[in-house]
Parts: sequence; structure tokens; C-alpha cells
Amino acid sequence: MSIKTVLITGTSSGIGLAAAVATAQSGWHVVATMRDTTRAGALLEAAETAGVSVEIRALDVTDPASVTACLAGLDRLDAVVNNAGAGHLGTLEQESVEDVRAVMEVNFFGVLHVTKAALPMLRESKGRVVTVTSVGGVVGQPFNEAYCAAKFAVEGFMESLAPVAATVGVAVSVVEPGAVASEFVSNVGGRDTVLEQAGPYAPALAAYLARTRDAFAAAQTPQGAAASIVELLEAEQPVFRVQTSDAARAFTAAKLTDGDGSTVQALTSAWIA
Ligand SMILES: NC(=O)c1ccc[n+]([C@@H]2O[C@H](COP(=O)([O-])OP(=O)(O)OC[C@H]3O[C@@H](n4cnc5c(N)ncnc54)[C@H](OP(=O)(O)O)[C@@H]3O)[C@@H](O)[C@H]2O)c1
Repeated sequence: MSIKTVLITGTSSGIGLAAAVATAQSGWHVVATMRDTTRAGALLEAAETAGVSVEIRALDVTDPASVTACLAGLDRLDAVVNNAGAGHLGTLEQESVEDVRAVMEVNFFGVLHVTKAALPMLRESKGRVVTVTSVGGVVGQPFNEAYCAAKFAVEGFMESLAPVAATVGVAVSVVEPGAVASEFVSNVGGRDTVLEQAGPYAPALAAYLARTRDAFAAAQTPQGAAASIVELLEAEQPVFRVQTSDAARAFTAAKLTDGDGSTVQALTSAWIA
């Protein structure tokens, strides 16, 4: 059987890095993409330690030309893992519409650019699209309005695309991590500044940050989250939605059975009371 090729976005750290190593260990040819290939050191080291190799390519998900150029160089493509993404902390009165647009560019339009460019090759291979969303793509969370909006958008987009793509043999799935111990939190940055500028929202934001610290104290490893990606890539019949941990399953279940929204409002309001 010929070796299958998977392209993964955002592999310089965290879940993407772990997924690149895990898929290579499972026998895939891995096109590990990142917007700045000078940051490939950690991935190359992890791959070497695991005794596997990956092909590094440049791809910035917010730049359609970079996406097209990256895909144009591939002979075949059997799966795409839309992993690249970035968090954002703040509430509406604190942030500009441009800030929110920037969050959408990376987390939503980035996924769109890559998936749209990849679909012709995936139709050819009867391949798969696996997109890392978040529990924040199911449950809206305080001070994550822009990030959750982008992840909700991805979830709606993929849930709608899935039956259509299935008619041409392409399986579409989403992966919903809860807290994962990656570079995610440090890449958001600026917590102190956001808190200083929070004005009337400062007490609620301080409570949210304390609650987040507790949640991340029990965070899953990037390898644990990556295992769910590999399972979807290898499943005979991949399901549409998976959570990567019991905590993520319990959290999203609260929303999925919350017909009138009161359960989630009570839960997240208690975080910042
Ligand atoms: N960690 C969590 O708790 C958590 C929870 C739920 C969902 N997620 C989701 O999981 C995915 C992976 O995040 P992570 O936890 O592994 O965090 P991470 O360590 O910060 O990794 C994010 C990756 O995305 C890349 N990226 C950011 N903007 C990009 C762009 N414009 N083009 C290409 N790559 C870009 C980053 O590259 P640079 O190194 O160049 O910045 C990095 O490789 C994200 O979609 C995130 O939203 C994370």
C-alpha cells in the first residue's frame, strides 16, 4: 500500500507539533507546515527523538498565496489537519472591531483558505479534513468572545460542509480540546495589560483568570490531544465530532443538552461571580 500524505498547519509547537510526530509514527508522510520555518527546531528534535521524519514547509494560514504555493508543491494529499489557531483575551468594550477581525482571520478564514485549496486533491484521494476547534467552539466563555465566535464559525462551517463533502468521498471532522498544556496561553500574552485596562470588568476578568489558571493546572498534554487526531485519520468511519479528554466531553455535553441556554449561563456566570 502506498504511503499516505497528511498536511498539518501550525506545527511549530503544541498540538500541531505532537500531531506531526504522532502521524509520522503511524506511518504517514507528514507535511508539517508553519508560518515561520526558522521555528522548526522543536519539531525536528521531537521527530528525531521519536525516530521519524517530517517534511517542513512554510504556510501562513492567513495568506492565501502562501497556502496555494504550499499545496502546489505536493504530489498527493490524503488528509489535512487544520490545527493552526490562536487565542484572544478581552471583552467587547476593550477591543476594536479590527482586533476581532484578526482573530477571525487566523482561526476561521485560515481554516477556510486551507480547506478550500485542499479539497480538489482530497476529492481525488477520497481523503479527510480534520479541524481542531475547541470546547470554545461549543460553549461560549467569558472574555473569549472573539475566539469563541471564530471557533463557533468553524464548527458551523464544518458541520455544514461534512454532508456535502461526503457526497464526493471526503470525510470532515472536528476535534474539540479543553485545556491543553501547549504554548497557547503564553502566545495569547498581554494578560496584565488587559487586566489593567479592564475598567468595570476588572473583577470579573480577575476571577476568570484565576479560574483559567486552575483549569490549566489539570491540562491535557499536547500528545493526548494529538492522539484524537490520529484516531480520526485512521478510523474506518470517522465520526464528525470528538472531544480530546473526559473534561472536554463533560463540558461540551452540558451545552449539547442545554436546550434553552440556562445551564451554560449559570455555569459560566459562576466563574466570574
Ligand atoms: N491549548 C489549548 O488549551 C487549546 C484548547 C482548545 C483548542 N485549542 C486549539 O488547538 C490548536 C493548536 O493550539 P495549541 O494549543 O497547540 O497552541 P500553540 O502551541 O500556541 O500552537 C498554535 C500553532 O498555531 C500556529 N499559528 C498561529 N497563527 C498562525 C498562522 N497565521 N499561520 C500558521 N500557523 C499559525 C502557531 O505558530 P507560531 O509558532 O508561528 O505562532 C503554532 O504553531 C489551535 O487551533 C487552538 O485554538 C487549544
